[in-house]
Order: sequence, then C-alpha cells, then structure tokens
Amino acid sequence: MNIILLGPPGAGKGTQAKRLVEKYGIPQISTGDMLRAALKEGTPLGLEAKKYMDQGALVPDSVVIGLVKERIQKPDCAKGFMLDGFPRNVSQAEALDATLSELSQKIDHVVCMEVANEELLERLTGRRTCRSCGAGYHVRFDPPKKEGVCDQCGGELYQRDDDNEATVSSRLKVYDDQTKPLIDYYSKQGKLRAVDGVGSMDEIFSRITAVLG
Ligand code: AP5
Ligand code: MG
Ligand code: ZN
Repeated sequence: MNIILLGPPGAGKGTQAKRLVEKYGIPQISTGDMLRAALKEGTPLGLEAKKYMDQGALVPDSVVIGLVKERIQKPDCAKGFMLDGFPRNVSQAEALDATLSELSQKIDHVVCMEVANEELLERLTGRRTCRSCGAGYHVRFDPPKKEGVCDQCGGELYQRDDDNEATVSSRLKVYDDQTKPLIDYYSKQGKLRAVDGVGSMDEIFSRITAVLG
C-alpha cells in the first residue's frame, strides 16, 4: 500500500506516520526529516536546503524529487511506503506519478488531515522533538514526564528552527498557495481521503485507519 499524508504544517502528519508505521509495517518517508538529517551531517544539500527552510519556503523541486525517487526504490519500500510532506506542489505530484508509472506502481490513498490555522500555530510553537530518537512531544498537548527530556530514550528535546511564529506564518501561506491545489489534483484521481485532524491523537489514528481499511 502506497500512501501520501497531506496536510498543513502541524496537522499531525509526523505524529500519525509513526503510529501507521507500526500498524502497517511500511516506512515513513518524510522529506522534511531527510533534509534536516542532511543538514545535521553538514552536507552541501543540507546547507543549501536550510536557506529555504528557515524562510518557510519550499526547497527546489529538483532536490526533493531526486531524494524521493531514490528512497522509494530501496528494498524496505517493497511492500509500500508512506510519504509525509511530499509532494508539496503540482509539479512534485506529476513527477511522482511519472516515476511510479515507470516502476509499474501507483499511489493508493491520499490522507488529507484538516486543522484550522489558529490550532496549527499553537501546535507548532509548542512542539518539541528528541535529538536522539526523533520522538515528538508538545509542551501542552503531549508533554514529556520531565521537561526537556525524552521519555523514550532520555535524549535532549529541542525546538525546530522553523517553529517560530514568523516562519510558521510563511509556511502556512506556502501551504495555501502551493500545496492545497493537490487536494483537487488527487480528488480528480479519486484518491483523496479527507480526515478531520482535530481531536485526540488516538481518535485521529482511528479515523485514518478507518479510511485505509
Ligand atoms: P516538514 O518537516 O515536512 O514540515 P511541515 O510540513 O511544515 O510539517 P510539520 O512537520 O511541521 O508538521 P506535522 O504535520 O508533521 O505535525 P506533527 O505531527 O509534528 O517540512 C519542513 C520544511 O522542509 C518545509 O517548510 C520546506 O522548507 C522543506 N520541505 C520539506 N518537504 C519538502 C518538499 N516536498 N518540497 C519542498 N520543500 C520541502 O505535529 C505538530 C505538533 O502538534 C507536535 O508537537 C504534536 O505533538 C502536536 N500534535 C499532533 N497531533 C495533535 C493532536 N491531535 N492534538 C494536539 N496536538 C497534536
Ligand atoms: Mg512533520
Ligand atoms: Zn528520544
């Protein structure tokens, strides 16, 4: 099963992807995580991407399309994969369709998580992530037992550079202008599965598994 998780910044794509990985045994492919990993390693690609990410802008298509093309052909994607944060505009979606058709594959479901902007801002500015294992937290909605420390591995929690109010508002605008058209793109293909993204993380997980069957 090949899935796309679509939704604005802070909709809960990463949070739900981690749970879906457990249930369906297919890998999460987050272009945001891949770019942050490249930056952490200090590669030229990571350093170049940071310029765009810090402004809340999209990294050039040529970069992310190349990353995804390579990633979906790895052996762990043989039974399927879950794209988180890709595609983010129509040209990325077209490139993905072209690649999948060369590989005799297709996207099965596009889960679109809907959350209003005021809640997104609060979710993003309160998000914390573990530096060691990548586990996600929220200072109010999902706090760790001990402030600043990961429950799962004891690692240090940090706040993403792009989770400040100014960058979040650019990211939300980029979503509206460039990513929202994908709702129409995938509706026309009959693949869109809209899910209310407001509620507890468990409730949203049940809604998603219900549409995936
Ligand atoms: P990326 O890393 O993909 O960020 P994003 O799309 O902005 O999405 P987020 O990761 O911020 O949100 P999420 O939906 O995963 O939410 P989460 O589950 O963490 O991209 C970052 C940047 O990289 C982009 O701006 C761009 O520059 C670049 N980039 C990436 N992909 C690209 C591409 N394809 N093309 C070009 N550029 C690209 O949840 C958020 C918070 O809310 C957490 O604290 C969580 O605990 C909390 N939360 C989750 N669910 C709930 C709930 N139900 N109730 C209350 N709180 C909740
Ligand atoms: Mg994410
Ligand atoms: Zn951790």
